[in-house]
Amino acid sequence: MIGNARWVACAVTLLMGIGSADAQNSNTSNLDSSGTYRPRAHTSEMLPNAYWVHKDLLSGGMPHGPDAFEELRRLGIKTIISVDGIKPDIDSAKRLGIRYVHLPHGYDGISKKRLLEITKAIRDFDKPIYLHCHHGKHRGPTAAAAACISAGWLPSDSAPIILKTAGTNPAFKGLIETATNAIPLDPKALDELRVEFVPVAELPPIIETMVAVDEVFDRLQVNQKQGWSQSGRADALLLKEHFMELHRAESQGVHGIRQPEFQESLRQGLDAAGLLEMQWTKMENASTPDTVLHQGLNDAMKRISQNCTQCHTQFRDNSTGQ
Ligand code: HEC
Repeated sequence: MIGNARWVACAVTLLMGIGSADAQNSNTSNLDSSGTYRPRAHTSEMLPNAYWVHKDLLSGGMPHGPDAFEELRRLGIKTIISVDGIKPDIDSAKRLGIRYVHLPHGYDGISKKRLLEITKAIRDFDKPIYLHCHHGKHRGPTAAAAACISAGWLPSDSAPIILKTAGTNPAFKGLIETATNAIPLDPKALDELRVEFVPVAELPPIIETMVAVDEVFDRLQVNQKQGWSQSGRADALLLKEHFMELHRAESQGVHGIRQPEFQESLRQGLDAAGLLEMQWTKMENASTPDTVLHQGLNDAMKRISQNCTQCHTQFRDNSTGQ
């Protein structure tokens, strides 16, 4: 027993040794003038919050449209890994001969299994790699840091600077833990891992709904910033419909039974989205001045946004996901 344990400890030390030697060789482009490791910003209109975390790995937000994919091609990107819930735009990637791999994870951290898969993917697929989530701030940088450390590409203590530079919110405790607890993985475990990499992963229905909710809400926020145009009306209705459908499915336990507090939070979301939609109906009443109507829309938006945050804090962000 003791002999075995010692052997394991020795093997781990050896592996970590190899890991840091590798890191020193390969991350020269990430060393600043004082020799300190730093993610290197890639300034781009097309790729949100993009950073070279390692010479072979660019972390960032979702590539939107042909120009974004063209930029990835120009950068020589050979593989795109998405950890986001949105269905990847595989056609745009395919057209440019870029491979897409979909390995989504939540905001509650990355499971051991998923981290092994992401690590194997960055180790084995053609490089350089673009690894993205939605905005490139929370899940993507976490996955990039954890996988680079797990693959032995970066030293174990590089996670905090990666997350800080990308602007990862410390409230996502599970994400922070995943990145800061990452250690070099046994290459054999990666060799032996059987995984079928797919360009589009199947996701639990709640994630699909949330992705749709997020898209509509994003559009509404842009609209709000620009002082409200008519398109907000259709989006308000769409948002309400998404909440209604989720509420119906959840109250019937279609996706399993959740706590009453979750149902309550969902009901409040539905109410807030209903309020927003009702404000648009009032718009038809020309006798109400615009400023009053806009104030009503803004108040409803605030309630919706508070509801998103409240439910996520309670049910999404604080578990460790292991
Ligand atoms: C009643 C609770 C609740 C409300 C309200 C809610 N969400 Fe969520 N949301 C969740 C849960 C739970 C998850 C995580 C699901 C999982 O990972 O299994 C989630 C996940 C997400 C995700 C991540 C999807 C992915 O790619 O993994 C986004 C984006 C999101 N929500 C946006 C929103 C927005 C925007 C709002 C408000 C307009 C909102 N949510 C309101 C419970 C809620």
